[in-house]
Amino acid sequence: MNAPEPAAAPPEAEVDLPPIGDRARYDALIEVMRNRVTVRKFEPAFTVPEEHYDLILEAARHAPSGANSQPWSFIVVREPEVKRQIADYFVAEQRFRAKAKMKFPTPDYRGLAEAPGFIVVLSDPRWVNAFPVLNDGSDLDRMYRENAERILLQSVAAATMSAHLAAAALGYCVWWVTAIGQEAAQEAMRPLLGIPEGMAVLDIFLFGPPAQKPYKRWRRPLDEIAMRDKYDEARHMTDAEFSAWIRERRHKVMFKDASRID
Ligand SMILES: Cc1cc2nc3c(=O)[nH]c(=O)nc-3n(C[C@H](O)[C@H](O)[C@H](O)COP(=O)(O)O)c2cc1C
Repeated sequence: MNAPEPAAAPPEAEVDLPPIGDRARYDALIEVMRNRVTVRKFEPAFTVPEEHYDLILEAARHAPSGANSQPWSFIVVREPEVKRQIADYFVAEQRFRAKAKMKFPTPDYRGLAEAPGFIVVLSDPRWVNAFPVLNDGSDLDRMYRENAERILLQSVAAATMSAHLAAAALGYCVWWVTAIGQEAAQEAMRPLLGIPEGMAVLDIFLFGPPAQKPYKRWRRPLDEIAMRDKYDEARHMTDAEFSAWIRERRHKVMFKDASRID
């Protein structure tokens, strides 16, 4: 006998569309977006009210996703000891990178241990099969599978960003940490959080009141990134320009005040 169809999801509220061009609504949103900023050290004594975790993850829940698969799970970490153990791992990684001469301006990960808000973002890679794939091992399958992996990552990033914006709307500063993709880091976190084999930790989302005054980082101007009708070749970066950017500008745009990047 076939398994019964899942019951239809209860209807969510009606879609509430504003008039096209509603500037007040746009202005409220862009204000939150503009003021969503990263800090890497938070006020340690602050306790995040339980309700705020729900408000933040409610925003994540409404994110769009490939095939509406909603391929995400979130673990709210409240135990200081668990936070500390995860932080220790990152600090060790930070030291390793310094020795490995990667030349990446690795941030200071000690602030992780005392982040009041600490949410681990997970995905099950089997969701890739919910997207267009052939599953026959062919070259064509490989091509579709690569794109399916991108669909998965984009979906989880959409939910993560929604959560970050919700936290920013509540007045928090945020920190998006992805430096955990390495297999060893995944294995270290698995037992601490009871994460089943095969599930991937895609990022960690930290938030709280900032320990120091936050600052706005530099943004590429709109006319540099936005084109109309076709790609503007004049704005295409050469390999040499890329190398120069990584060598001379990356560390400045990552860490310095917007007014002091040059
Ligand atoms: C996909 C993604 C990955 C990131 N990974 C890290 C990370 O591993 N460690 C870190 O300290 N910051 C990380 N960040 C934070 C960025 O460095 C930060 O967003 C960027 O410098 C812009 O600063 P802003 O968030 O204040 O606008 C990441 C951000 C994004 C969106």
